[in-house]
Amino acid sequence: MPELPDRPLSLDAGAAALGGYGPNMRNVLVTGAGSGIGRATAEAFVAAGDAVVAAMRDPVRSGPVPGARTLTLDVSDDSSVSVALAGLAPFDVVVNNAGISRSGPVETIDLDDARAQFETNYWGAVRVIRAVLAPMRERGSGLIVNVSTVGGRTPARGYHAFYQGSKHALRAMSEALRWELAPFGVRVALIEPGFVATNIFDRGGYRDAPAASPYAADEAWVRQFFLAGAAAHAIAPQQVAAQILTIAAQDQPRLHHPVGADAEAGVAAARSLEFEAWYESALARVEALAGPRPQPDTTRE
Ligand SMILES: NC(=O)c1ccc[n+]([C@@H]2O[C@H](COP(=O)([O-])OP(=O)(O)OC[C@H]3O[C@@H](n4cnc5c(N)ncnc54)[C@H](OP(=O)(O)O)[C@@H]3O)[C@@H](O)[C@H]2O)c1
Repeated sequence: MPELPDRPLSLDAGAAALGGYGPNMRNVLVTGAGSGIGRATAEAFVAAGDAVVAAMRDPVRSGPVPGARTLTLDVSDDSSVSVALAGLAPFDVVVNNAGISRSGPVETIDLDDARAQFETNYWGAVRVIRAVLAPMRERGSGLIVNVSTVGGRTPARGYHAFYQGSKHALRAMSEALRWELAPFGVRVALIEPGFVATNIFDRGGYRDAPAASPYAADEAWVRQFFLAGAAAHAIAPQQVAAQILTIAAQDQPRLHHPVGADAEAGVAAARSLEFEAWYESALARVEALAGPRPQPDTTRE
């Protein structure tokens, strides 16, 4: 496999360097392809024989996806997106996967952390879509896949206001986009996994709450639920990738795609319960994995 330069390059030139397009080769862009679900998805499209652009913000740190072209792309940066994607369209499939998770109380979470989740998870997808959409719309075909979470369908748990908020916003944008693009033949799908075995929690998703915080014990309790839930229920990122490839082969995929048994259960509970009933059932699920809810330490400020 020849080394491809990490700079704007037309897909035709990229395909030529890879030995040319196959008859059914799709042009695929995956963001956040350096790790986890994004890497597994890029690998799966490569294995299916597609021309894959694996976009990541630090290719030296993350390393290439064999068989894919590497593109340096920070979805939270306007100019990075416009420069990196200039001249690359049209894509057949665009997977907006790049995402970050930062938990914390609404009252005290670092606002830069709160905002960064919207910049990456929501505005990052918006930036990429706006950069790639016109040629897809003009051609009247293509698929936008936005990687959300089951938490984008369910009410928000404590300490996840901004992660889930960014994914709820991603859901709203995807629904509107589906409406707007239906007449043009461009498909839109949302992937809504439950726990997936990646390093997202180790990458800043959980920072120890300051010991002096009045929220510290409760936040640690919710964290324990997530760690135990991931250990008990996490599916492989390849399973999410397989779902994305299945959708990419469908003429008219549904919009919503929960992935994993816990995601299916989460969507069903959110659909059937009013918030107050959902809240009680969510607390019970946390208690089942993390023990009784701790009382707040009201001596702390
Ligand atoms: N793991 C789960 O349980 C789970 C469940 C539901 C949904 N999801 C969603 O799945 C997606 C992928 O997450 P993952 O679980 O595979 O975790 P991951 O391994 O941490 O992958 C996230 C990827 O996004 C990249 N990224 C972060 N900020 C970026 C930016 N500004 N520009 C470009 N790339 C950026 C990261 O690159 P760096 O290496 O440079 O940080 C990383 O490769 C996310 O959208 C996440 O919300 C995950």
